[in-house]
Amino acid sequence: MLERLQKIISAAGVTSRRASETLITNGQVAVNGVVVTELGSKADPTKDTITVDGKTLKIGTQRLYILLNKPPGYITALKDSQDRPLVTHLLKDVPDRVYPVGRLDYNTEGLLLLTNDGEWANRLMHPRHEIEKEYHVRVRGKVIDQQLKRMADGVELEDGKTAPAVVSLVKSGEQNDWISVAIHEGRNRQVRRMCEAVSLSVVRLKRIRYGALALGTLRAGQFRYLTDAEVRDLAGEPEKVPTVGYQKQETRQRPGGKSSGRR
Ligand code: URA
Repeated sequence: MLERLQKIISAAGVTSRRASETLITNGQVAVNGVVVTELGSKADPTKDTITVDGKTLKIGTQRLYILLNKPPGYITALKDSQDRPLVTHLLKDVPDRVYPVGRLDYNTEGLLLLTNDGEWANRLMHPRHEIEKEYHVRVRGKVIDQQLKRMADGVELEDGKTAPAVVSLVKSGEQNDWISVAIHEGRNRQVRRMCEAVSLSVVRLKRIRYGALALGTLRAGQFRYLTDAEVRDLAGEPEKVPTVGYQKQETRQRPGGKSSGRR
């Protein structure tokens, strides 16, 4: 069946669909030995030989979907100019190259998805899906309600105001408090910057949930393959029903509004 070249390339796990388009327009893609630069060109992945930078695409490779508990001190990338440890170094015996779905900062830990299915990764990262990501943040000292409420309502960052979030106090300790922050945007260092904006100093940041998928009991540095149902449900989740607000004790509040009384 004929399909658009950029779709075939991203589905083969080479890179995202947008980046595949650039590969095409740059003249790095050939079909049956003929360089194709026109976007919208089609090929049959079952019959044609498609090459990117001279390398033949592996069509029909087994699709891999991985959930890794990323430890701090690992780079979410396939290479690093400073030679720091890469998250992919933790993936022993994975039979194909996989790449991360989004990224976690060098010192952020927790749930990271990796796959060789570019289409699936694109779907997850598309803003339309608004998949909610939940983080636990250990902050220095004591948190006050006003700080949580401001984060829930949205704080002004240099790239614009953040969308409403679900924020709550998880645990209070002698030296540090733990808060939960659930957001559906994916801006660079967003949670750290939201905390900074309300004068909270982040000691530790851990992603504990991605949509309905929880980190669970995986130890740091360990990974597991997703089940078929998890793969299907995650990408096919209905668009997010907003669950915004600062969550205090048993109730959730909508920013500036009345408690919804929902849990
Ligand atoms: N927000 C951050 O600040 N860092 C991450 O790694 C993820 C979300």
